[in-house]
Amino acid sequence: MKVLDAKFVQGFIRMCNDGWEQGWHERNGGNLSYRIKDEEIAEIRDELKVTDNWQEIGTEVPKLAGQYFMVTGSGKYFRNVILDPEDSCSIIEIDETGSRYRILWGMVNGGRPTSELPSHLMNHEVKMAASGGTHRVIYHAHTTNTIALTFVLPLEDEVFTRELWEMATECPVVFPSGIGVVGWMVPGGRDIAVATSELMKKYDVAIWAHHGMFCSGEDFDLTFGLMHTVEKSAEILVKTLSMTSEKRQTITPDEFRALAKDFKVELPEEFLYEK
Ligand code: 13P
Ligand code: ZN
Repeated sequence: MKVLDAKFVQGFIRMCNDGWEQGWHERNGGNLSYRIKDEEIAEIRDELKVTDNWQEIGTEVPKLAGQYFMVTGSGKYFRNVILDPEDSCSIIEIDETGSRYRILWGMVNGGRPTSELPSHLMNHEVKMAASGGTHRVIYHAHTTNTIALTFVLPLEDEVFTRELWEMATECPVVFPSGIGVVGWMVPGGRDIAVATSELMKKYDVAIWAHHGMFCSGEDFDLTFGLMHTVEKSAEILVKTLSMTSEKRQTITPDEFRALAKDFKVELPEEFLYEK
């Protein structure tokens, strides 16, 4: 099968374009990676070619040794993915030590996988273990309203989680484990990857202060939907804070507990503090 005909490749391209249409990917902002299933690799095996030397990832992900990923390219624009996916994306293989990768498809006009590859792969490693192998998608986007909130709210997991839960009744059901926050750090390296993947042990969402968001999920729909839900909630909070500094009414801790019971989700008590 041609790589471009594979269902996961079509899903990958569609998600890039959906993110672009949301306004989350100015210029080359944001990146996406997908951990490819064995049977999906088997389908496209004929088109994968070794034309590249092994390259350093910049961190170690031993549990991902031998795995294959589809990733967006560094400096590539999400708005172009749908027009020329072979220029904007690549399929890479991780070596047996988990410290190097090589390109097997894509990047036809040169280039490298996203500069956030250390964060993507360290998040994949953590989420693969935490989810029993079901999580396959890591998505980074420059979500406008969430970024705006990082200038206004304390950079604390408890505050971001609770404030964003309050903004839409579906939120605690969509991200019941909450949201982690990383204070401002230099992007693109191992340090921010370590900090983010530490939070990903507990959460499916991590916010990078003054930068954007990372989400993890099982498939493209769930991961895009998670990013979309958090960002929509942030938009409501931005609108609310623009009207007033004090909410007249909101969802209370006991109402969250009632919601959790009916929707059969567990909401950690650390987020249900009295204000
Ligand atoms: P890349 O173009 O290297 O993917 O970087 C974009 C980005 O959002 C960095 O955080
Ligand atoms: Zn970014």
